[in-house]
Amino acid sequence: MKSIWVINGPNLNLLGIREPGIYGSLSLQTIEDSLRNQADDAGIDITFYQSNHEGAIIDRIHEAMGQADGILLNPGALTHYSYAVRDAVSSVKIPTVEVHLSNIHARETFRHTSVIAPVCAGQISGFGADSYKLGLNALLGVLDNRNS
Ligand code: DQA
Repeated sequence: MKSIWVINGPNLNLLGIREPGIYGSLSLQTIEDSLRNQADDAGIDITFYQSNHEGAIIDRIHEAMGQADGILLNPGALTHYSYAVRDAVSSVKIPTVEVHLSNIHARETFRHTSVIAPVCAGQISGFGADSYKLGLNALLGVLDNRNS
């Protein structure tokens, strides 16, 4: 059974409370519940993790080695400046899809750059909670293509 690890970075534990006009009213738990349903339907195993700490996110990405087939990653603000998270993603060589609830390209200039996207299979941004659903689909497509 394929295993997907979903990793969320700083402040994403506050989804539902935090700036709902930008990030929507759904909690992270609700988003994870619906991803679990999607994973069950697809017959894959899914594991969730969130941390507000850069080093913990990096440790989690390292732990994925030998355990996860793919990573769905919302690095939060780390997206825009964390070369360390970028290096972790490129080091483990596990196909990774970057997701954002908001359209980072339509927001403040500092959010237009992702230092992590270049080492990911791709980026999905701007579809609210659906970004995760679309990201999981995209990741499963990437894994299928690798195996065919
Ligand atoms: C975010 C976008 C980031 O710019 C921001 O710092 C976040 C959330 C998103 O999902 O839209 O924390 O990653």
